[in-house]
Amino acid sequence: MSTPIPDIRPDYDKANYDENNIAAFTLEDPLTFLDGTPVKGPADWPRRRKEILSIFAKEMFGEEPPRPETMVTELVEEKADALAGFAVRSQYRMWFRQDKSGPAIDWLLLRPRHAKGPVPVILFLNFNGNQELIPDQEVIVPDCWHRNTEDHRLPEVRGNFCNPNSDTVLPIGILLSAGYAVMTAYYGQVSPDPNSGEPNPAFQQANFAYTGVFELWGKRDESRDDNTTAIGAWAWALSRGLDLAERIPELDARKAIVTGCSRLGKTALLAAARDERFPVCMPVQSGGGGVPLAKHDYGENVATEARMFTHWFCPAYAKYARNPAQLLTFDQHLLVATIAPRRLLVPGFNEPWFDTLGDFLSCQAASPAWELFGLPGLPKVPFPDNYDTSAIGPYLGYFRRTEEHGIAAYDWWMLLNFLKAI
Ligand code: GCU
Repeated sequence: MSTPIPDIRPDYDKANYDENNIAAFTLEDPLTFLDGTPVKGPADWPRRRKEILSIFAKEMFGEEPPRPETMVTELVEEKADALAGFAVRSQYRMWFRQDKSGPAIDWLLLRPRHAKGPVPVILFLNFNGNQELIPDQEVIVPDCWHRNTEDHRLPEVRGNFCNPNSDTVLPIGILLSAGYAVMTAYYGQVSPDPNSGEPNPAFQQANFAYTGVFELWGKRDESRDDNTTAIGAWAWALSRGLDLAERIPELDARKAIVTGCSRLGKTALLAAARDERFPVCMPVQSGGGGVPLAKHDYGENVATEARMFTHWFCPAYAKYARNPAQLLTFDQHLLVATIAPRRLLVPGFNEPWFDTLGDFLSCQAASPAWELFGLPGLPKVPFPDNYDTSAIGPYLGYFRRTEEHGIAAYDWWMLLNFLKAI
């Protein structure tokens, strides 16, 4: 008879904030197949990558939604001299049925007006609607649900990203001047993200979360514990953004950069893990279920994630909650490794709930996947202090800084430097 595995801590479902309480753990080798055979060289990597992705589909993020058979995109609006003449502003609407019924996604694209050829595009989902990017009355505000406003309507945050006091900023003029386009859509339009305490049953996670683009994938089979999750749906939407970018001649979609913060950082990571067309990924402060190791039991943990965000992770993930260190047969470094040999920059910050040491350890453990290709992995340095850039390699990098939760000017600056490094 096997001895039952004890709970990791008596209060395993609360966050631990004491390094001394972290139980010992071992991490799976990214370069060893599940059957124990080694990954001998780059030629073996696609098979191992697939194996890892299927673990994450079965145990954490649910089945990957299919590529749509139909995608109709319409240029709804365009202005050739937006942003004081610096940008071309284009707004697209995307549907997944020929008759334009059902779910739709609105994309805002800002590209440098004076570019001489196709430019790389920075692609991300936003939290509050496309109107938060720039102070521009003509940015379309989609009529959809928002999780944090009292009336559940999108907040009036026009141009919030241009306010230097905001936790998330977008230095749009600098990005355009540096030769990048920016493309974004509102994640709640893809599929809503209800809070766990939502009092109105119509808007609770159990039902409301699986609306929006979920409508395209038919009825969910509730007997399965690996149904598609919201994070899976949002990541799918980022791939649809890339599909659109590929159709726009002024963009160089082969050089796309996928990013996002927090739950949308987890989303960016999953999008890049699943879709190899993304050559660069910057998951900002992705937190539990993103870059940080789950076995490094600090801050939010499998138990809190499974309880508070039932629609982010599939039910299969909850079985690891009582003792991730001993029960998990995988960890987030494997997801990070699936990005190799592409480029990944991981910005962290110091809010303990987000366990940024876990970010660093995860990158460290994923690093052999880059080395397999003869590329430098994470620089072999100790856990860097705030604003120390020593752990940023040309392919895999980590840094942290003191600003609050969001994508700060410093993060964009680090990204621009990272992009120029090779
Ligand atoms: C919560 C959650 C995190 C998430 C964050 C966010 O803090 O626990 O996992 O990243 O919300 O998305 O804002």
